Amino acid sequence: MSTKDTVLALFEKNKGFFISGERIAEELNISRTAVWKAVKKLQSEGYEIKAVTNRGYCLDKESDVLTIRGIRSSLNEYAKDLRPEVFVRVDSTNTKCIEKAQNGEKEGYVAVAGSQSAGRGRRGKAFFSPAESGIYMSILLRPEGLTENQVLHFTTMAAAAVSEAIESVSEKHAEIKWVNDIYIDGKKVCGILSEASYGIETGKLEYVIVGIGINAYTPAEGFPSAIADIAGSVFDEPSIGLKNKLAAEVLNRFMEYYSHLPETPYSDEYIKRSMVTGKDVMVFKGGETVRAHVLGIDEEFGLKVRYEDGSVEVLRSGEISIRL
Ligand code: BTN
Repeated sequence: MSTKDTVLALFEKNKGFFISGERIAEELNISRTAVWKAVKKLQSEGYEIKAVTNRGYCLDKESDVLTIRGIRSSLNEYAKDLRPEVFVRVDSTNTKCIEKAQNGEKEGYVAVAGSQSAGRGRRGKAFFSPAESGIYMSILLRPEGLTENQVLHFTTMAAAAVSEAIESVSEKHAEIKWVNDIYIDGKKVCGILSEASYGIETGKLEYVIVGIGINAYTPAEGFPSAIADIAGSVFDEPSIGLKNKLAAEVLNRFMEYYSHLPETPYSDEYIKRSMVTGKDVMVFKGGETVRAHVLGIDEEFGLKVRYEDGSVEVLRSGEISIRL
């Protein structure tokens, strides 16, 4: 363990309480300058550590920061070979992964960020990615031997993995709004954006990036008015380690499913969580919005809808909104 990590471990044991620099130095058998340097480094990573003359240092008990060590310590056998890199802030973790992929990075790289300055959502929209409250991460994969249709399954696979991970860490019930939005109690808590690159000459799949954005907490300043009615968060109260645990659990479930491709053992899990089955929705189709009733989801994750004229269609991709 590095000096920074041992200092952090000591802070975590004493979270919410002040410990003097002298005591830390003594307990860890390091110099006070080394303690000071470790504290500075931790603060630059986003840890809220107060420094008060004559009292020492105190890690805020609500400081929940994404770290490589924290994520790695909860990875299971399916995900243990992943290589997470954690950034305090990036433009977009998907963009970071694409840059890495284009520079030859191998499968298994994961870009994780505490905030994004240009988070990207589906249909060219921006994804609100403020500091402290969210988990923004993208996984780089280089699958072989999959059909184009099977590549589309990455998104549904991620939706099932995130839903299960949320339930195991928070005990809240997560539902899926086709194709890949995760909701808790009627509020969106996670969005997924998968991107793939095919060689122009070879037509071969070069890489897939699966980008996942989770609102772990409600941001201190609240959600912007444009999404305030629909956005929600996974946890009610901040607590150290929750974000790392949830990020790791998402990776664990996702990589387990990935190891089974092209089989889709998560399909029952996905279908049973559909929050739109039996509901009236608006379907966005070729620039138009059409009313429809959702009949169900097929084994290929298509959305079976009946339009008002009685015709039935299975949507393979696209966007819907729930009619109120
Ligand atoms: C959506 O709901 O429209 C999809 C949002 C996907 C957001 C995630 S956050 C991590 C990754 N990086 C991005 O820029 N986008 C995805």
